[in-house]
Amino acid sequence: MPDIIQLLPDNIANQIAAGEVIQRPASAVKELLENAVDASATEIKLVVNDAGKALVQVIDNGKGMSETDARMSFERHATSKIRNIEDLFHIKTMGFRGEALASIAAVAQVELKSKKESETTGTYIEIDNSVVKKQEPVAMEQGTSIAMKNLFFNVPARRNFLKSNPSELRHIVDEFIRVAMSFPDIFFSLTSNGQQVFHLDRGTLKQRIVQILGNNYNAKLVSVQEHSDYMNIYGFVGKPETAKKTRGDQYFFVNNRFIKSAYLNHAVMGAFDSMIAKDSFPMYTLFIDLDPAQLDINVHPTKQEIKFEDEKIVYAFVQSAVKHALAQFSISPTLDFELDSNIQHLDAISKPFSEEKKSSVASSSLYNTFTQKNQAHFIENKSELKHWRDFYEPVSKDQRPLKDNLRSSDETVSNNNTQSLYTEKRQQIQDDTPMQQMHFAYIVVQNDAGFIVIHQQNAHERILYERYMKAVDGKPISIQQSLFPQTMELATADVVLLNELLPDLHYLGYHLEPFGNNTFVIQGTPADVDQGNEKMAIEKMLEQYKHFSNDLKYSKREKLLRSLAWQQAIKAGKQLSQKEMKSLVQDLFTCTMPNITPNGKPTYTAFKKYELDRMFGR
Ligand SMILES: Nc1ncnc2c1ncn2[C@@H]1O[C@H](COP(=O)(O)OP(=O)(O)OP(=O)(O)O)[C@@H](O)[C@H]1O
Ligand SMILES: [Mg+2]
Repeated sequence: MPDIIQLLPDNIANQIAAGEVIQRPASAVKELLENAVDASATEIKLVVNDAGKALVQVIDNGKGMSETDARMSFERHATSKIRNIEDLFHIKTMGFRGEALASIAAVAQVELKSKKESETTGTYIEIDNSVVKKQEPVAMEQGTSIAMKNLFFNVPARRNFLKSNPSELRHIVDEFIRVAMSFPDIFFSLTSNGQQVFHLDRGTLKQRIVQILGNNYNAKLVSVQEHSDYMNIYGFVGKPETAKKTRGDQYFFVNNRFIKSAYLNHAVMGAFDSMIAKDSFPMYTLFIDLDPAQLDINVHPTKQEIKFEDEKIVYAFVQSAVKHALAQFSISPTLDFELDSNIQHLDAISKPFSEEKKSSVASSSLYNTFTQKNQAHFIENKSELKHWRDFYEPVSKDQRPLKDNLRSSDETVSNNNTQSLYTEKRQQIQDDTPMQQMHFAYIVVQNDAGFIVIHQQNAHERILYERYMKAVDGKPISIQQSLFPQTMELATADVVLLNELLPDLHYLGYHLEPFGNNTFVIQGTPADVDQGNEKMAIEKMLEQYKHFSNDLKYSKREKLLRSLAWQQAIKAGKQLSQKEMKSLVQDLFTCTMPNITPNGKPTYTAFKKYELDRMFGR
């Protein structure tokens, strides 16, 4: 009989290995967010389209990668985070296997842009199915942006296994929250299909919890805090009256890593004991810090399960700490334990991490997969907070449980909430509010809290986009008939395209009629398009429309609205009169989502007076 065993080709082997790490769009979200955290970013933005099936992109302002590292980062077992066996016992970073990017690149199309502070240009890399398609220099700010497009495009069977958009988006939000919750000193945002779902300003853990889980927890959190030589625990539990019928708002983090542990959950539930109804679940967000040597993180590919060297002591500690906290807030009737002495006498505290354990890890398959040859170059830890970042703080402070809204709807997530959020801001801009144009690009507006700087082009893009949305939704823009209708001749492909767009264009105030032979007559345009310029406006709009690549999965209509808003927006460089500025600012703050362009760029930034005072030592 002939031999039948064959080695799998690299790309298939990679796809199989990737299966453990990347199961769904949310897995990529987790990996990319964690990489940004590891890169010491202070701002991390997550953008998803089509529940991550079309796009998962994470943009950070972290330390970035050199040209070689950028390319190397996609190799399997390439990491800058551990170098030798000793490091495995002191893991302080979220990543350490060097598998995430390799896995993502095996099952999707990836575009990476990265630049280190010390370098003048960044690197752009395009990878398809683990194969580098393009690498070239790119101009950019310090940091990294990784876009994963069309997940499982090359593994249709897995693509078919993905759940509905609302369900996949829920997974994404869960992962986002888990990372955002454990790093309150990092700014995070999440934009889904152009709508900003979360905007989490930097703050304390308590503020972050309230930002994510909702204002109703504001006065209902009990602080948990215990320290010992063996481990520390800190965080918050909800007062018993906030317990819910569904498990959900329960988070455990060990050394800042979200973990699932039925065992530790049991410990907390035990502390609440008779204080809550049997079938209800208290909220908790608890952080356990202990020597990494007392943990094995490498028991599960997603690192969400860990093994404690001594589980019992952790259980006892957690339960005691929560009981203690509840007792101190006079919620639990008695203080029936002495935390420290109980804990300190337990065996595990005096027992150091054993030599046997070290040698067993040394021979594990994980350790063996690290070879010097495959390791990415060490990336030094240079980037510190830039001074201005301290000062910068976007206005939006959403304190509602957006998370809950997501449970019920996919696309229209936070629209209603955002609407009410901004009425307050809107009212602050009065008719006589002083404003000033700067560099023909920015409008500076004073408000009660300080001042805001508006980017005129971005702001106008948002205004037009919302106006157009309303137009196609049944409030058509009125058409100004041309006195001297122009004709335009187009290439065949553009004719096909334009024909498809005609009905929507009509809603948007463009009255075009096919005239045969690839020609259209422009019978009318919206009032704000200059007479004589109609033809150019339409040509430019078509150009922009074609720039939206198909794989972004926007509907035709959505692409049309975006193209038109982009094309029609007043550009930076245009001088504006006081009247024009006023109406622009007022229109902006009547928008449903005034703070970002349809593509997620900020439209304005707020500067708070108290922060200015602080800067000047007042
Ligand atoms: N956003 C980023 N900024 C800077 N460097 C990054 C970023 N993402 C990845 N890297 C670099 O690429 C390497 C590979 O990343 P990858 O996520 O594949 O592995 P890892 O984070 O080391 O380990 P793990 O597989 O456990 O996540 C990292 O070790 C890091 O050096
Ligand atoms: Mg990683």
